[in-house]
Amino acid sequence: MSQKAETVESTGAGGPEIEIRGLHKSFGDNEVLRGIDLEVARGEVVCVIGPSGSGKSTLLRCVNLLEEPSAGQVFVGGTEVTDLDVDIDAVRRRIGMVFQQFNLFPHVNVTENLTLPQRRVLRRNKSRAAAVARENLERVGLSDKADAYPAQLSGGQQQRVAIARALSMGPEVMLFDEPTSALDPELVGEVLAVMRLLAAEGMTMMVVTHEMSFAREVADRVVFMDGGVIVEQGPAAQVVGAPQHERTRNFLTRILDPAATDKPGSDAAADDSGTDKT
Ligand SMILES: Nc1ncnc2c1ncn2[C@@H]1O[C@H](COP(=O)(O)OP(=O)(O)OP(=O)(O)O)[C@@H](O)[C@H]1O
Ligand SMILES: [Mg+2]
Repeated sequence: MSQKAETVESTGAGGPEIEIRGLHKSFGDNEVLRGIDLEVARGEVVCVIGPSGSGKSTLLRCVNLLEEPSAGQVFVGGTEVTDLDVDIDAVRRRIGMVFQQFNLFPHVNVTENLTLPQRRVLRRNKSRAAAVARENLERVGLSDKADAYPAQLSGGQQQRVAIARALSMGPEVMLFDEPTSALDPELVGEVLAVMRLLAAEGMTMMVVTHEMSFAREVADRVVFMDGGVIVEQGPAAQVVGAPQHERTRNFLTRILDPAATDKPGSDAAADDSGTDKT
């Protein structure tokens, strides 16, 4: 009884929203991604976890071409973004990205942070851009901060503005790279709440995070990376709850119970990253 799938497929809408095939990325002699194959379905939330240096950020950055892959292909919404002839700007417009550091423009207010990229990149007129900005500030619960400057906001509020800014571009896909890692613990929840809302709205999301409770609750799938490969993936209950691989178990032990292991810089941390150092 899967006639629906067949009809959808004929329009091209049934394929994965993000498809990564045989992705490799090297920086000089350092092969950081060593053959990644991953599909993210439309509306799916995939959390990517793994030790420092395992290539999580590089993977996200290859999806929106902030890094150029050394080999392999990436498709977003059925378009090959790694095609040399692709319009990179057009691709990036379809992909919102949120970083650990919020990267807001400090010298303009919240509304202008949201309207300037729309006007520059999407060529929206002032009133249309302002309307979209208002809508997205409301979505992240910050309508009352429209005129504030970034420095007047808490870290959690700044990150919600950064999310609203990305949403104002009307992306089909959102990539989050440790969006709560720079926040004080009491501010993490408000950012995760916004992300939970986006997931519920059906946004396709790839989220690099150490927030295991978020992964368990929101992710359709958890991907564990180590050494530039996907070691295992599956539903959170499986990967986080009953990991199959020793490397995953070791990582989760450190994440879930940091007090049980040594601090970063000690042997326990060093064996994650091989020769990599920070
Ligand atoms: N622009 C770059 N030039 C050279 N090496 C890089 C560059 N970006 C990343 N690397 C290297 O690639 C490796 C993977 O980095 P990446 O940032 O993807 O890891 P990560 O899994 O996101 O780690 P973390 O959890 O610390 O953020 C590291 O060894 C890093 O030093
Ligand atoms: Mg990273």
